[in-house]
Amino acid sequence: MSDLEALKKEAALKAVALVRSGDRVGLGTGSTAKYAIEELGRKLAAGELTGIIGVSTSEASEQLARQVGVPTEPLDPRPLDIAIDGADEIAPNLDLVKGLGGALVREKVTEVQARRLIIIADHTKLVGQLGEKAPLPIEILKFGFLSTIDRLRAFLPGGQLRQPGAQPYVTDNGNYIYDARLPDTFDPAELERRIKGTLGVVDTGLFLGMAERAFVAAPDGVQELTR
Ligand code: A5P
Repeated sequence: MSDLEALKKEAALKAVALVRSGDRVGLGTGSTAKYAIEELGRKLAAGELTGIIGVSTSEASEQLARQVGVPTEPLDPRPLDIAIDGADEIAPNLDLVKGLGGALVREKVTEVQARRLIIIADHTKLVGQLGEKAPLPIEILKFGFLSTIDRLRAFLPGGQLRQPGAQPYVTDNGNYIYDARLPDTFDPAELERRIKGTLGVVDTGLFLGMAERAFVAAPDGVQELTR
């Protein structure tokens, strides 16, 4: 395991330590959340946790949960006791950019119902301001996507349709993603309102005021950040 992977796992273990038997747990998506799902499976198998139910934020996490023996249920209106997920950028106030893994909409729809959203990451995800390192993923409808991108480019120039190969990337919801470049200065809440008010947009990877705490692992230890 590389040093960075070891850090992701360290952060994940800290978050899973907050899970109690009987909890309904939001299962995040990505290379860091993967360690949390595996640890939940290990704890269930070892009898260190009982009766937890996972609610997956992607097909990939659902599949992993099954593999490691974490029982899952689809999202329903009941609150989740806790959700554990990674992030692409973490601002000092714990506002986040998420969605480089493509699961932003299911993550937001699920994690908004969590009493506690716990973010896990290695130290490379910390930023002074959102947009410093990562683009802002925006999920958009396939239908009319060029028109939607045009509307977005009017106030967020410089972004691009996510297209890793010959075809655009398609989310679990059957939509496309526009990876926007964030401006140097902006009001996150105002920008979120403006993007979500753009016809053809499903949702954005801005997670504002949602995270309760973050475990951020660095070579000299795991930092616990709260809002
Ligand atoms: C998935 O769509 C994302 O929001 C991930 O949570 C985020 O990209 C972090 O992923 P890694 O843990 O793989 O960096």
